[in-house]
Amino acid sequence: MENDKKILFSGIQPSGYLTIGNYLGALKNFVTLQNDYDCYYCVVDLHSITIDQVPAVLRQNTYNLIALYLACGLDYKQNTLFIQSQVPAHCELTWVLSCNTMFGEARRMTQFKEKSAKHPDNINVGLFSYPVLMAADILLYQADLVPVGNDQKQHLELARDLAIRFNNKFSPTLTVPEPYIASKQGGARIMDLADPTKKMSKSDNGGAVLMLDTPEDIMRKFKRAVTDSDTQIKYHASKPGISNLLTIYSAFSSKTISESEKDFEDVGYGDFKIRVAESVIEGLRPIQNEYSRIIKDKAFLEQVIDEGRQKATQKAFKTIRKIYKKVGFI
Ligand code: AMP
Ligand code: TRP
Repeated sequence: MENDKKILFSGIQPSGYLTIGNYLGALKNFVTLQNDYDCYYCVVDLHSITIDQVPAVLRQNTYNLIALYLACGLDYKQNTLFIQSQVPAHCELTWVLSCNTMFGEARRMTQFKEKSAKHPDNINVGLFSYPVLMAADILLYQADLVPVGNDQKQHLELARDLAIRFNNKFSPTLTVPEPYIASKQGGARIMDLADPTKKMSKSDNGGAVLMLDTPEDIMRKFKRAVTDSDTQIKYHASKPGISNLLTIYSAFSSKTISESEKDFEDVGYGDFKIRVAESVIEGLRPIQNEYSRIIKDKAFLEQVIDEGRQKATQKAFKTIRKIYKKVGFI
């Protein structure tokens, strides 16, 4: 079953609707990388419950995310698409790694600080050990490469430290993963249309464009996008709104930023925004069509999920068996 391709692992939480930021920063790269690596793409539902979820909504979001993975063009035969909670080894390795993670080390994680500030009434222990679970995800599959956004870099660093620590304490067991930071490849950090100084995020979607928005909604959101009092369509740090729109346009039309600037040399902001919206609508159309077909086919989705669970379980079991042995469990 194994081939000699390097291994890639990444995951997205099934909490809310995915934005075009998720698409450009994560999913689009997943599709590009799938031919060169043996890929494990996970729906990380265990991570989602660090914030309160409505169970029925979580369940639906999980199906939706698997369907979106497929609709974007991820091949479930060639790769492993699976649901984290269906592979118990994630929790098992989390415990072993937790006993090798220092309290102070976990306390330094910036996401923990941010999320605790955002949800002061629910600072649970799971939120604290979130990065240890993420390290377990990655290390279980002996991943060489992990595509993540910039915000997850610190967590990946912890995963590397934990792998190195385990290997030194026992014996070489775990692959030390390398990050693949999407934002370095073509600046795909997409900002909120209503506040272009803030990252576009699926949790607060005032100015977020969702992957499953209707063409009308997409057009409306772009028409309302914040720009500036200038008239030039140029990419510049002093023009966050226009720069963000140029980034989105160039990503969806596969052009460079300077080619995109040329396309709009004598164009006004109003027409520019419409053209950006059109490129997004066109780019998302095939994905949305595939999605509506797949999400109706429950039997197919269940089959994909089941195959993924089996493949992931097999691989994860090999690692956890080794780990348990080295730690001294009978
Ligand atoms: P999240 O929505 O924070 O769970 O992130 C899921 C994946 O999408 C991660 O790899 C993020 O780095 C990426 N991502 C989320 N929002 C953006 C954004 N606005 N721009 C680029 N990438 C993003
Ligand atoms: N924490 C990641 C995020 O919020 C999601 C995630 C969980 C992940 N486990 C992972 C990403 C393992 C990469 C590898 O985006």
